[in-house]
Amino acid sequence: MRRKHLVAIVVVIFLTWNFLMYYMLVSKNPGKLGSISVEDQLKILQGDIRHQLSHNSELLQHLRKFREQKLSEELDRKIHQTTTPVPYDANRFILPILLIACDRTTVSRSLDLLIKYRPNKNKFPIIVSQDCGHKPTADVIQRYVMEHDIKHIKHPNISDIHLPWPQKKFQGYYKLSRHYRWALNQVFHTFNHSAVVIVEDDLDISPDFYEYFSATFPILHQDPSLWCVSAWNDNGKLDMVSDDAELLYRSDFFPGLGWMMEKSTWLEIGPKWPDAFWDDWMRHPDQRRGRACIRPEICRTSTFGKKGVSKGLFYEKHLKFIKLNSKFVPFTQKDLSYLLKDKYDTYFTKLVKDTPEVTVAEAMSGHRSNMKALKILYSTKDEYKSTAKKLGIMDDFKAGVPRVAYNGVVSFMYRGQRIYLSPPPGWKGYNIKWS
Ligand code: UD1
Ligand code: MN
Repeated sequence: MRRKHLVAIVVVIFLTWNFLMYYMLVSKNPGKLGSISVEDQLKILQGDIRHQLSHNSELLQHLRKFREQKLSEELDRKIHQTTTPVPYDANRFILPILLIACDRTTVSRSLDLLIKYRPNKNKFPIIVSQDCGHKPTADVIQRYVMEHDIKHIKHPNISDIHLPWPQKKFQGYYKLSRHYRWALNQVFHTFNHSAVVIVEDDLDISPDFYEYFSATFPILHQDPSLWCVSAWNDNGKLDMVSDDAELLYRSDFFPGLGWMMEKSTWLEIGPKWPDAFWDDWMRHPDQRRGRACIRPEICRTSTFGKKGVSKGLFYEKHLKFIKLNSKFVPFTQKDLSYLLKDKYDTYFTKLVKDTPEVTVAEAMSGHRSNMKALKILYSTKDEYKSTAKKLGIMDDFKAGVPRVAYNGVVSFMYRGQRIYLSPPPGWKGYNIKWS
């Protein structure tokens, strides 16, 4: 009886223990036996959150795009409408000259001419912005501060820019773009000027440099389809220009090299200013937005910078042949309203349309040398390039625009005769793929 009792107790204990173990295992680790494990539940939750996040960021992207589009539409409207611009007082108008310098003591050559031809130091204050922290150059500039009352500002950030290996060779382009950003912010935000003419430390200027910018400023200000005035003609070599120093054009190609812009333009492009290659960046449709620059037939600047950031090859092959204008044109006494878009487009389109069309071979043969002007058509990129090469003008494109082109038309002189290299009638605009 006692033995039976004991067995019963052992059996009960054994069963209870098993039951307890079973219960504990199931409740601790239900996944193996129950429906969904906590881990899986977490995974599902994680998935849900991820989905929600990507949905939100998509939404944010849409909103951003929408905002950009709205801003860009607004800008386009501004550019293409003809509103009366805010008037300005021409007598009190100040046009600063911003000279970008670095480590070349020959900045004195640029400064000498800027001072020599300057008609009024109050109207045209000279600001030299120096990058690179080069002491000998700083000393040279300092002399002009003492003697000619110019301003010398120094870029505070002259640190190296860390770039991955393939980009390393472009360090110079990065530094000068950073310098431009800073210097232009100084001009427009610190000194609060409303326009600027930018020159570099290896540029000579023509005697009518100030006259040219003074006279074109009101046109730039009035015409929202213009965003710059430049002193430069990319095909400005001696035998490619006429001797008509008065002749000015509109150009879809941003020439740089001595150029003027208004504060409103800086407010638009300054905040997104690129880390490098600022001039090509400006030529992109995202920045240019169909706007043109005024440029002269004969350059009002020329460069003596044999060695520069872009290594000088271009100088020997091209830049040193550029003709710098030597005649003073009293532009401020002339009516330049023909440069306003509506007038200019009507006149220029008709001019090109009425010019007799010839082939390149005919133009080169000289058989039509009795004509004042000739027109050669191009329909493809290769056609353009081959014609340009034959006639000696620059054959490259930036963002699909040939140098100096306006509405696709490139105007230059060939053996004393005006040539219009022009797309055929019905032209649909530049093709950004042409390069
Ligand atoms: C070329 C262009 C130049 C343009 C530049 C950027 C020509 C003839 N010149 O420069 O107009 O701005 O590409 O695409 O096509 N500088 C600095 N910090 C530096 C190095 C240079 O501020 O670390 C300044 C120089 O003082 C100068 C300017 O940047 O005023 C251009 O430098 P330069 O060495 O003359 O280069 P380019 O090859 O002529
Ligand atoms: Mn240069």
